[in-house]
Amino acid sequence: MIRANVEIVRIAVLASGTGSILESMFGAGLRIEVVLIDRPCRAREVAAAHDTPVVLVERSSYGSDFDRVAYTHAVVDALEPFDVDLVVMAGFGTILEKPMHDAYENRILNTHPALLPAFPGWHSVRDALDYGVKVTGCTVHVATLAVDSGPILAQEAVPVLPGDTEESLHERIKTVERRLYIDTIKEIIERGHVL
Ligand code: GAR
Repeated sequence: MIRANVEIVRIAVLASGTGSILESMFGAGLRIEVVLIDRPCRAREVAAAHDTPVVLVERSSYGSDFDRVAYTHAVVDALEPFDVDLVVMAGFGTILEKPMHDAYENRILNTHPALLPAFPGWHSVRDALDYGVKVTGCTVHVATLAVDSGPILAQEAVPVLPGDTEESLHERIKTVERRLYIDTIKEIIERGHVL
């Protein structure tokens, strides 16, 4: 087995939102070569503050006319010059198709704000609250073509508290994700699983 360390492994982070997980990754010393975003978002400012290239591959549409395969090819092409070993999704809002998984097979990670296989999809925090669960959490997993169902690498429970809103619960989950995701990424790098 080839051993590696966090200074060597070249990472692309895919983000669409506030970029708070991305921010923690910079703080943890991961070697982030590029941040790819699918829409203008705060993640762009986070990357710029760390002198890291940002590539915007903007979605042309959020409707049924969206050409997901063409978009995926554009993402693969945009990442290619950065020669990354690992792709890390941190709140990326576009499902990518087969060309991405062909290019980075078993080298795409995701964090999801629920205990998969419970509450997959984009509204997992709201869905967990609506269902009335007393415990939810987050899942770090390998991203596969089947959305939110790749091999699970780590999970941690987060209690739902009386009076929680979607925002308060999601923020409590993200506090865990910012630690668990980074610890898991470091662990798989140090085990030599991505080189
Ligand atoms: C995180 O909670 C992450 O799990 C979620 O987006 C948030 C990103 O937070 N991702 C998904 O829901 C993917 N299905 P951030 O923008 O503050 O880093």
